[in-house]
Amino acid sequence: VDDTIATIEMLSADMRDEHAAIIQYLQHAYALGESGEACEIEAIARDEMRHFDWLAEAIVELGGKPDLDRAAVDLSGSLPAERMARDVAAEERAISQYRDHIERIADPKIKRLLGRILSDEESHRADFTGIAAELAEEPTEGPIVLAERTAAGAHPHDVDILQAGIEHEYSVILQYLYHDFVMPECEVGRELEMQAINEMQHLGWLSEELVEIGGHPRIEHTGLSLEGSSQEMLEADIEAENAVAATYTRHIEQLENEELKPLLTRIRDHEIYHEEVFQDLAAELHDAGAEGAEADSPPEPEGHSFTVGSLIKD
Ligand SMILES: [Fe+2]
Ligand SMILES: [Fe+2]
Ligand SMILES: [Fe+2]
Repeated sequence: VDDTIATIEMLSADMRDEHAAIIQYLQHAYALGESGEACEIEAIARDEMRHFDWLAEAIVELGGKPDLDRAAVDLSGSLPAERMARDVAAEERAISQYRDHIERIADPKIKRLLGRILSDEESHRADFTGIAAELAEEPTEGPIVLAERTAAGAHPHDVDILQAGIEHEYSVILQYLYHDFVMPECEVGRELEMQAINEMQHLGWLSEELVEIGGHPRIEHTGLSLEGSSQEMLEADIEAENAVAATYTRHIEQLENEELKPLLTRIRDHEIYHEEVFQDLAAELHDAGAEGAEADSPPEPEGHSFTVGSLIKD
């Protein structure tokens, strides 16, 4: 039992670091605008998302809860090549931590998983080293720390609208992924993961627009509704979609920059679709539950009691 707890703790630390790497790399990629390097960095961020996913699944299999906290994101560095050096450093920390965890963990299946992730990190370290060298050769907009970009020339309200969208998208990505990780109904989980991937696109589109007008996306989440029965989780997700569809509709009206309207409209329409998909899933779950009750066997799966949905971190 002690072994299991120690293993879960190590996997949770790995999850927090993967989470930080995803956000750090995405912000570095967005800041580069449309470029070959940005594409390469986003591909690395997608590898880290897969790692995040695998670690969460391993934790759930061991009886733990996926850890949605995030380790520190390093946004320092005033030139792109300097930022890449931070990413090389992040990979080096990951490499030594995975080596250490592989040594300390006894479970052969988890050792194998971490070994698989480790080989990705080694290749990322080489990738970032190469990208840093390429970027050092290219002209840039001049030294500026990302957090100091302000979109000074853009309409402030438009900046706020994009930023609000970014925070919403990041929040639902985390919420839907968490629900996917803990949801015993595999098909519902798969659908939640699909929508989370769509929300990642939204996050990217909004962030790229914000960079385009001279700003910098702050990727922080708002309140998350994580715990509850499957039915309660879906209800929370439906509520999130309803609220954001209404917000986007209001923001589309308020935008000063007409060119942003088609993008926000497209995202809003996706949210309406998500809400409908979640409604269908909730209805199916409800029917399955009713059948289960008729057969006199409660459908409630072990380990998922009907607790009140809780908010962490608001
Ligand atoms: Fe990596
Ligand atoms: Fe979205
Ligand atoms: Fe959505």
